[in-house]
Amino acid sequence: MLLHLPKVLNAEQVTLAQSLLSDDAPWLAGHRSAGSQAATQKNNHQLAQSSAQSQQLQRLILQALNQDSLFFTATLPLRILPPLFNRYGGDCNFYGPHVDGAVLKIPATGDWLRSDVSCTVFLADPASYDGGELLVQDTYGSRGVKFAAGDAVIYPSTSVHQVTPVTRGVRIASFFWIESMVRSDEQRRLLFDLDMNLLKLRDKHGETPETTALTGVYHNLLRQWAST
Ligand code: NI
Repeated sequence: MLLHLPKVLNAEQVTLAQSLLSDDAPWLAGHRSAGSQAATQKNNHQLAQSSAQSQQLQRLILQALNQDSLFFTATLPLRILPPLFNRYGGDCNFYGPHVDGAVLKIPATGDWLRSDVSCTVFLADPASYDGGELLVQDTYGSRGVKFAAGDAVIYPSTSVHQVTPVTRGVRIASFFWIESMVRSDEQRRLLFDLDMNLLKLRDKHGETPETTALTGVYHNLLRQWAST
């Protein structure tokens, strides 16, 4: 499931992120942190993880996600890899087709995290750059997305995806992975659809015996499928 999450960050948080991710920030060559297949496709810059800017922005993003109920219901997060930040512009302006690594090391603890869901938070105003679409392939074909600064997109980590060349301006973004309590994308999708439609039913009709029973079905499916 590919899903647009509007306004994960507010305008003030976006302005702060943009000022911390200026051209003077400690940007490193992106291919250094990619696996061997991905490294051949990766031509961008990535913010040094040990930098003060990175740590401040990681806290900002994680706090915002914590308050975002749509993010929670769509991803059912067990663990989130500390967010990373990238920059596409000038000669370092694309990331060709690749698949993200299935297991990723959490820097602080050395523990492994399984990547189930990938997330990008857009941080540049889309009018300020050309190109730089995130193109995700799924069973229905390719879908390209480029959202407002502060918006996010989630998509299955299993999918081949790319960032098309930025031909004007600079595209900055945060990206990270989520290990979900529910490993299967199909099962997460069913739970998400059930949850969202229950919200709509409650809006229309209030609480009824049927919404109560279906909420029970939601939780019992989650109980069957979740690993914690
Ligand atoms: Ni990727």
